[in-house]
Amino acid sequence: TSHRDFIDNMPKTELHLHIEGSLEPELMFTLAKRNNISLPYGSVEEVRAAYQFTELQDFLDIYYQGMSVLITEQDFHDLTWAYLERIKADNVMHTEIFFDPQGHTERGIAFDTVVSGITRALAEGEQKLGITSRLILCFLRHLSEEAAFETLKDALRHKDKIIGVGLDSSELGHPPSKFERVFRAAREEGFLLVAHAGEEGPPEYVIEALDLLQVDRLDHGNRSLEDEALTRRLADMQIALTVCPLSNHKLAGVKDMRKHPIKTMLEKGLKATVNSDDPAYFGGYMNDNYHAIDEALGLTRDQIITLARNGIDASFTSEAEKQSMH
Ligand code: ADE
Ligand code: ZN
Repeated sequence: TSHRDFIDNMPKTELHLHIEGSLEPELMFTLAKRNNISLPYGSVEEVRAAYQFTELQDFLDIYYQGMSVLITEQDFHDLTWAYLERIKADNVMHTEIFFDPQGHTERGIAFDTVVSGITRALAEGEQKLGITSRLILCFLRHLSEEAAFETLKDALRHKDKIIGVGLDSSELGHPPSKFERVFRAAREEGFLLVAHAGEEGPPEYVIEALDLLQVDRLDHGNRSLEDEALTRRLADMQIALTVCPLSNHKLAGVKDMRKHPIKTMLEKGLKATVNSDDPAYFGGYMNDNYHAIDEALGLTRDQIITLARNGIDASFTSEAEKQSMH
């Protein structure tokens, strides 16, 4: 079989997915209508045409505006359910999704509404689609440490549904050190820890995520390769990197997919995984992300399998669940 078919048929995990970033323009219009919200776009085509980004902040501005159509528990359910149905077609068997509660609580939506809608759909996904999942809360790093502590307090009521906390939004100027104390508190509460680092930010931010936040997994991590000692450390630790190829291309860190670092990461022994980040905004779900790197970088069959196996090993599941996925 061709690499294309092999990738499509291969069971996959997804470990870096912002659920609000899976909001397709069609659903955005449906929810806007349902909630009487006016959008600054006249059509689905106009929305897609607006998705042209030169850096992370361009995307984030549009992403926060897009999520304003999410109001009710049913909206969060429908968003999550649409994502699960879509990844079923890509043979994703397990997904660990991020959500940005502060993007909603800041607009007056209750934290519990958000969690309830998402987790109701995740439970249905397991029953009806056989897709297992975990939920990870992300703190918005452009907001204050105090706001993150408030959000952590909300999360304590839902410890049974939230496995970990992460850090996302505008990276430059908001280093991991800003959230050292929140992450320590989250760790003491038993949450697993991840953080976006080295997407736009320098290798020093990755080092802070390791040393100060003590993350269990790194989101992106691309710029780690600029620092040889750090690269060796990541290889020695076998800490997983949740790499997002199409996202890196759209947000211009990687202008040419033939220069995407994921193959180099594998060659240097880093535990890289493939993920879609914000698929509605970056033009592709899991299979598209695999195809993009395979076609641009000429991966071997073994490298494709290694990426998929890394995704299983790096998941926040039990050893027994990992065994059954392998
Ligand atoms: N929020 C959603 N997607 C993100 C990304 N790729 N980087 C930082 N924050 C995000
Ligand atoms: Zn991300």
